[in-house]
Amino acid sequence: MKYQTQNTLCEYEDTGSGPPLLLIHGFPHDGTLWRLQIEELKNHARLIIPDLRGFGKSGDAPETMTMDDYAADLKALIDAQRIRGVILCGLSMGGYISLAFLDRYPELVLGLILANTRSAPDTEQARAGRQAMTEQVLSGGVAGIATTMLPKMLTATTIARNPDLADSVRVMMARQRVNGVVAALRGMAARPDRTPILDSIKIPTLIITGEADSLIPMEESQSINEAIEGSRLLIIPQAAHLSNLEAPDVFNQAVIEFLEAGRFQST
Ligand code: MLT
Repeated sequence: MKYQTQNTLCEYEDTGSGPPLLLIHGFPHDGTLWRLQIEELKNHARLIIPDLRGFGKSGDAPETMTMDDYAADLKALIDAQRIRGVILCGLSMGGYISLAFLDRYPELVLGLILANTRSAPDTEQARAGRQAMTEQVLSGGVAGIATTMLPKMLTATTIARNPDLADSVRVMMARQRVNGVVAALRGMAARPDRTPILDSIKIPTLIITGEADSLIPMEESQSINEAIEGSRLLIIPQAAHLSNLEAPDVFNQAVIEFLEAGRFQST
């Protein structure tokens, strides 16, 4: 299905029934990141799964997509569906976008699931790394970074034991377009610190991460959990950055329990 953003049409999937759960992918991913969630979760929630602007089957991005730009796109999507309250579930960059959405549109957010993400902005070193990656992608395309990022997405054990999964993650990353990847790199480098909003979060919140996540160490999740009153933290053993794909059963069960405990309304 299509959703209209500022000046381009984007793609999303809408399946299942129950309270609306917006599944926001990370970088450099698309909505297929959530394929191992659909069967398990669709009887518990209405799953809304966008390809963010510049990714997957969505239209092109401008030079820079800030986290607020993505959040505004997602607000347009749920407004068009006349959804007045949504549960956000964002992984990594999807988590940065979830916090931007919550900051801008708190009245629309019923619950929050933050997976493998952080609230802090980039360090100077991280910004320099994004600049180098931008130059690499502009000169050589996306396939190179897909290969170098794969060992950060999944544990070495998963890559060795589940080559099909590993290959599907590499292919998902490699098929993203230069336009979307570069816009997201610039937007992530420019994102503000969202840590100050954490202690004002009063909605049900679940934080999930992988014990072996080297891209975003679990200490980041632990400090988010300490800052949000009443949140729950799940650290999944033997999972790295894509905890939803490496440990789908544990991930899905935690989301189902969160949805049941929250007694969210279907809107
Ligand atoms: C992601 O998975 O979304 C990215 O690794 C996040 C980042 O680069 O900061």
